[in-house]
Amino acid sequence: MLYMKSDTKSLFNLLKYYKRYKLLCILVIVLSFGYAAISLLSPIYEGKLLGFFENFDSDKIFEIAIILCGIRIIIEIVTNLWSRTVLKLNGKVNFDLKKDMLESLTSFEMKNFDNTNSGIFISRLNRDTSELSELFDYITDDFSGIILNVSFIIYVLFINLYLGLFLIINIILTYTLSTKKLHYYKRTRKIYKENDENLVGSYTDLVRGIREVKNLNLKSVFLETINRQQIDTISSEIKYIDTRRTWNRWIKSFQHIFDFIFVIISVYFISNNSLTISSFLIVFLYKNKVLSLIDYVSEIREKLADGKISAMRFFDIVNFNNYSKEEFGNNELNTLNGNIKFENVCFSYHEKTLFNNLGFEIEANKMVAIVGKSGEGKSTILKLINKSYEIDSGKIYIDSKNLKDLNEESIKNNISIVSQAPYIFNLSIKDNIRMANPNATDEDIVFVCKQAQIHNDIMNLENQYDTFVGENGVILSGGQKQRLAIARALIKKSKIILFDEATSSLDNKNQEKIKNVIKSLSNNHTIIVVAHRLSTIVNADKIYFLNDHKIVASGLHNELMKSCDMYRNLYEIEQ
Ligand SMILES: Nc1ncnc2c1ncn2[C@@H]1O[C@H](COP(=O)(O)OP(=O)(O)OP(=O)(O)O)[C@@H](O)[C@H]1O
Ligand SMILES: [Mg+2]
Repeated sequence: MLYMKSDTKSLFNLLKYYKRYKLLCILVIVLSFGYAAISLLSPIYEGKLLGFFENFDSDKIFEIAIILCGIRIIIEIVTNLWSRTVLKLNGKVNFDLKKDMLESLTSFEMKNFDNTNSGIFISRLNRDTSELSELFDYITDDFSGIILNVSFIIYVLFINLYLGLFLIINIILTYTLSTKKLHYYKRTRKIYKENDENLVGSYTDLVRGIREVKNLNLKSVFLETINRQQIDTISSEIKYIDTRRTWNRWIKSFQHIFDFIFVIISVYFISNNSLTISSFLIVFLYKNKVLSLIDYVSEIREKLADGKISAMRFFDIVNFNNYSKEEFGNNELNTLNGNIKFENVCFSYHEKTLFNNLGFEIEANKMVAIVGKSGEGKSTILKLINKSYEIDSGKIYIDSKNLKDLNEESIKNNISIVSQAPYIFNLSIKDNIRMANPNATDEDIVFVCKQAQIHNDIMNLENQYDTFVGENGVILSGGQKQRLAIARALIKKSKIILFDEATSSLDNKNQEKIKNVIKSLSNNHTIIVVAHRLSTIVNADKIYFLNDHKIVASGLHNELMKSCDMYRNLYEIEQ
């Protein structure tokens, strides 16, 4: 098999995105060829005009002027068509690239998000996909320049073989220089891109955490770090632009020398009568254009070099090269009772063991509580039940089905989780709830909001259910956000609902009300509640007490008060 460097391979893989729009691609290529062919007519007719400087003929000159105008009009039309077609193609490819990247990102295993700054993903999603979709645009644009200039060299070769050969030598030497330039350009550009990616990551962190930054007075710490990154990014940007410009200047100076030699050679041929003055003038007029052939070629090579970097980073995500994909089975849960069983479950976060042979059972339609110190792994247990993280060994059963074998829909539709710090989207209240169940009617939404004790709060807002809540529900209080998140989980009507400290920010009155709602849900749902405040779970059907990442006791509240000293101590301290 042909060996291909991985970045080149990524670029080839990109072709499949363009192949979907074969017709548009062909049209773009045909139009850019057409443009080159028509543009070539201009110097030929302009040359003819120059031929009149010995015997002036106003009629003929007028005729040629009309033709030149016609050529210009056709060029304008063709360029316009080309531009519209290529923009349409860009748009389509850009959308497909972004769509695929988003699909992959949302299928990442959660652990990929633990050690990567989200800004990196945003930068790739935004910039790399746009750059890749513009690649065809730039390449076809420069490509028509290449055709135009190659044709012109052939034309010069016909006029005077030596001048033509001289131009070709000039081009080969300049090309060699530009290869050298590209080598340095690629290196410096890659460093710039990496710095830029990290910087976008820090910007994202700063903007998302701006409240914390202000509250904890972290402004100077943050700004210092970001400024350092900005300096790194800007200097690496300057370096790559400078590298490019320095080499361009060198190449230009080199061309000037060649220009000079070109005139001397031409003068020699004119004095020799082997070159007419008008031919010389045409060649001289267009010579610099021909030399821009190298610019076109190096532009294409630069764009391809950039494209290779972007394509590598793009396929890194889309093909899960450096990231792992969530795996689901094929089994579907048709009717679910709601039993849960952990059997010898071992789990570690990034090689750090948290659970070793954890085992317990939760009966369907019961309300079970998991309690224990902070960091014991309570939230993690819930995340393992909804398969946010993959276990290392052991088995988790939902009813009698191994969680590993269930398909994504079965897991995500039947298990809802109200997380410890729920994220509220920058949408209206109604849309925030409806997104969990698009079929829900307005009445359903009001019903779950009443259940979650948030209805009255919503009715007091200016636009009630249509009120926009801002990023992460900024206009809502902590307790309101929690209740909204509960309403959002309730509307899903999942059989298994997991509450992770879901009422920790509520006042006693609201907490008491929700406690009863949650308890009543266990009539036909399996409920797991994780809570610090033991008073909120005394009515649970079973309480699991975690210590040292193991279940050390279980039973009803009254039983644990008698049998488990740690539990009793915890409860008494709270009281
Ligand atoms: N994404 C993660 N990557 C690495 N370690 C993690 C991750 N999430 C949690 N941990 C670690 O796993 C342990 C258990 O975390 P977990 O959130 O399950 O605790 P918890 O019992 O819910 O605590 P709390 O009562 O404070 O919410 C902690 O030591 C924590 O540092
Ligand atoms: Mg927790």
